[in-house]
Amino acid sequence: MTLLDPGMDLTLRPMRYPDFYEQYRAAIRNTWTVEEVDLASDLADLAKFTDAERHLINRLVAFFATGDTIVANNLVLNLYKHVNSPEGRLYLSRQLFEEAVHVQFYLTLLDTYLPDPEDRAKAFAAVEHIPSIKEKADFCFRWIDSIDRLDALRSREDRKAFLLNLICFAACIEGLFFYGAFAYVYWLRSRGLLDGLATGTNWVFRDESCHMNFAFSVVDVVRREEPELFDDALTESVSRMLDEAVACELQFAEDLIGSGLPGMTVPDMKSYLEYVADQRLARLGMPTRYGAKNPFGFMALQDVQELTNFFERRPTAYQVAVSGTVDLDEDF
Ligand SMILES: [Fe+2]
Ligand SMILES: [Fe+2]
Repeated sequence: MTLLDPGMDLTLRPMRYPDFYEQYRAAIRNTWTVEEVDLASDLADLAKFTDAERHLINRLVAFFATGDTIVANNLVLNLYKHVNSPEGRLYLSRQLFEEAVHVQFYLTLLDTYLPDPEDRAKAFAAVEHIPSIKEKADFCFRWIDSIDRLDALRSREDRKAFLLNLICFAACIEGLFFYGAFAYVYWLRSRGLLDGLATGTNWVFRDESCHMNFAFSVVDVVRREEPELFDDALTESVSRMLDEAVACELQFAEDLIGSGLPGMTVPDMKSYLEYVADQRLARLGMPTRYGAKNPFGFMALQDVQELTNFFERRPTAYQVAVSGTVDLDEDF
């Protein structure tokens, strides 16, 4: 039996994929709650924002309003159905909880930042009405729909279609759209702004890194079990998909920062997205294609910090680590 064979395997002993179980246990150790994040302190910063900064943050909030719900929907509708391993499904159950916490965090953010109920409703409607957000949402919906009708992965083509959906959500959505959005948050933090948002983002960022790593470990298992699925056509489809995701995120950047803000310009964001896209391709064992460098020093620090936290965290230690990172501004 292989991981993508249709069915509902129930056997945990002997365990076929102990690494999935270890990832589940590691995720449990990283539990956090929205109540631990103090967003009230951000309000004084928001009151001082320029129009351009206000536009940036409103767009970000509008993206966050629905982003994690879309990810959670694909998890339930597609990933859970086809990853046929009870320990793999344990991880996905835990991930689903984390996505729920993210949805709650961004709802709380939106309620705090946007006191006017009409503005809140507009943020949720952004997937329909704001072109730069609609384009990203449509990209996600297209990939959700691409395997919507597959009730089981019977053929080689079915399995390749599933792999593309899995890779899309890990590499393009959690691993690129969210990374792009986090870059704006850390850029604000590097200027001493919105510490509350940055604190919650630290935790969401770490969760997203783990979700992506789990998905890539599923890809690794499938590659080991069914190497014939990883042909040139699959590599070609992944490259095209990442190109499209970078383009989506770039038009979002043009909307958010237009002619640029100090230390955060569209060309910088383009380099950053291409750098991240190359990292995703490399992790998938596929040829990189952009050769871009990471222009954002504040994001390079973030990656290191996330790894450190991941391996060192105990519930109290992490909180100390977070207040430490918020004070890191001098080092930037
Ligand atoms: Fe999430
Ligand atoms: Fe996620």
